Amino acid sequence: MVASLFVVLAIITVINYEDGDRYIDRVAEVRQTSKDSLAGLENAIKGFLKDHPFSQQIDAWAAKQVYLALGFFLYSAALLGIDACPMEGFLPDKVDEVLGLPEQGYSAVVLCAAGYRSEADRLASAAKVRYKTEAVVQYID
Ligand SMILES: Cc1cc2nc3c(=O)[nH]c(=O)nc-3n(C[C@H](O)[C@H](O)[C@H](O)COP(=O)(O)O)c2cc1C
Repeated sequence: MVASLFVVLAIITVINYEDGDRYIDRVAEVRQTSKDSLAGLENAIKGFLKDHPFSQQIDAWAAKQVYLALGFFLYSAALLGIDACPMEGFLPDKVDEVLGLPEQGYSAVVLCAAGYRSEADRLASAAKVRYKTEAVVQYID
């Protein structure tokens, strides 16, 4: 694969009421509705922010949200015929420092290279190794 794109997926490390307002403004814009009609949602978001001051626990939760986005990224890339290579095992503090993420209120969680597969990459055409469905999926009647 020639990685023409290298994505750093990051969590927001500080969140406050202004972020809640930004989200509500965006909902109103996208759904062409008034902010007043979104008062219930706004109260729910601000209530959540009040009850959950940022902590390690919230960082872990935020990281899981990032992995949902990564899942859609991988899936969408595959549908477009683009290969991707998600990566952990890096030093987040170093990546943060190089990219100046702390100053922007972000911290790197996972990295992902993406690009079109190289003809010369013999691993690209190797069969995908997956456990059998029955080994990883349990059906409950
Ligand atoms: C530097 C580097 C770090 C990686 N870190 C991870 C990892 O933390 N977890 C993981 O599942 N795969 C990791 N991978 C493997 C790739 O994401 C790999 O393509 C993928 O796991 C295999 O997916 P596939 O079976 O769909 O080809 C890493 C690969 C590289 C090159």
